[in-house]
Formats: sequence, structure tokens, C-alpha cells
Amino acid sequence: MIVTTKELFKYAYDNYALGAYNINNAEQTMGLFKGNVDSKAPFILQISRGARKYTDKRMLEGMIRAADGIFPEAVFAVHLDHGDEETCYDCIDSGFYSSVMIDASHESFEENIAITKRVVDRAHAVGVSVEAELGQLGGVEEDISVDEDKAHLTDPDQAAEFIERSGCDSLACAIGTSHGAFKFSGSQSLHFEIIEAIQQRVPGFPLVMHGSSSVPQEEVERINAAGGDLKGARGVDVSQYLPAAKMGVCKINIDTDGRLVWTRVHREYLRDHPGVFDFRPVGKVFMAEYAKFIASRNELLGSAGQLDAVRAALGK
Ligand code: 13P
Repeated sequence: MIVTTKELFKYAYDNYALGAYNINNAEQTMGLFKGNVDSKAPFILQISRGARKYTDKRMLEGMIRAADGIFPEAVFAVHLDHGDEETCYDCIDSGFYSSVMIDASHESFEENIAITKRVVDRAHAVGVSVEAELGQLGGVEEDISVDEDKAHLTDPDQAAEFIERSGCDSLACAIGTSHGAFKFSGSQSLHFEIIEAIQQRVPGFPLVMHGSSSVPQEEVERINAAGGDLKGARGVDVSQYLPAAKMGVCKINIDTDGRLVWTRVHREYLRDHPGVFDFRPVGKVFMAEYAKFIASRNELLGSAGQLDAVRAALGK
């Protein structure tokens, strides 16, 4: 069942965070739904602009609708990750997405507000939720690359004004994480004092943490042992997920870790089965491993076991 992020945040706020996971293909979609249903977690399915271009945006929609039918217990939002204005409008007008992110964080404060407000007006007219971003994360994500010297943390004093004037439903805050597998390469760390300060200024307002993959060292070691070259990859400490959730962070974005699971499974499988040239056996291993990974993240986020309560609250 597709619901808005705003609805999901109502039940999660100050209690647990929803995992926001990116998908690109059928295997990820199946693993994602299975992992969430197995761990009884509501979730947010994210689609990036790159994913929409990978096969065809209609292919993603078809896969998600099919998965919704295969897993009728699932409760989830369909969310555009890091949209520009044009892509937000395309998603809003499609009638399929329940949530979009407008990322105008690279613009000036005033321009960010103006762009976000335009998207909010159009989205709210048809019941779609809007996430905006204030401050800028470093790192690389698909076609978005932000140098560490350009990245800057969210200013808590600006957050309340931004939310008030833009009308957004949730706010992605830059608190020291970065996108990709090479986080904290310099002296960066997580700035919980910023989340705390923002929560004090906008109590009850849902916050979002991007760049939250933990880059499990076991995955990195196995990838490297199977021919990969990911030396120095590092991520967020998973013990920080729940404390963040208790400070109003309702959505925690995890994409890179899923790619690492994919890379480890495929590298090891092809190394160990040099004669195999069928994509289904390895695809099956990946779907099972990805489902396990998703369930394990939901335990850490506190969203595992919340599905029945959310369904009951929704009256479904
Ligand atoms: P990671 O690269 O840490 O998985 O972050 C993903 C993300 O924030 C998507 O918007």
C-alpha cells in the first residue's frame, strides 16, 4: 500500500526512523519488499533521477506496482530522491509518487525557498509530500558531486524560517555525513548538536538524514578479497541511527550499502563459479542477501516490528 511520507512520519516521530532505500532494478525491488515484510517494517522506496533513466521510469513504476501486489502487507511511500524542479513536476503529475524531494540546496537561501515553495504548492494540490534540503552534504551520488570545501552544515537559525516560508513537509539537514562509500575521509564527524538545535526550533517537524550508509567493513573486505578495490571506504556508525531518530530524524537514507551487498554477492559468486554464465542463480543469492540486509537495518532504525501498528493507525 502506497502512502505519503508525511503519514509515515506522523507515527515514527521521536520514536524510530524509516529506512529510505533506493532501487534500480527488479532484484533490488524484490529484495527490498521481502526484507521489509519479513521484518514487519513500513519503509520509503526511493527513486533517483539516475534510476529513472537507467531503464525507463515506466519500468520502475511497473515493478513497484507488481511488488505491491506480490507483498500486499507492505506499507511504503514512493519518493523521488534529489529531484530538480522539472523532475519533481513530472513525478507529481504522474499520480504515482506519494513524495518528492526538491534539492535546491546548492542555490542561495532565498532561491532555495522560492524553488521549494513552487514545488510544494504543486505537490500539496494533489496530496504529495515534499522533502527539501538546507545546507549541503559532501560526497558523490550519481550525477551530483559536492566537494568537501563546498559542503556546509545546516544553520539551525535558518531552518525554522526555511520551513515556515517554503511550506515543506520534512527537511534534509547536513550534519556531517556525505554520500557514497568514502565518508569521513578528513576530519568530519556527525554533528548531533545541529539536529538537537534544529529540533528545539521546530519541535515535531520531521528531519531527514542523507548519506547514512554504514559501509560495513566486512562487506568491503569481502569485496576487496574477491578482486575489488575499495580501500579506505568508511561509513556512519550504525549505533547513531536510533539516537538520531529520538531527535526527530524520521527518515534515514541508505543507498551505498545496498550497492556494496550487490557488489560482494556478484564478485564472490562469479569468482567461485567461473563456468556459470546465467544471471538467475546469482540474482537469487542477491535477492535473499539484500532482503537480509534490509531487515537488519530496520532493526537498527527501530522500524522493524512497526508495520501492524502503522496499518492499524491507517485503518487498513
Ligand atoms: P549513502 O550514499 O550513504 O547511502 O546515502 C544515500 C542518500 O543519502 C540518498 O539520498
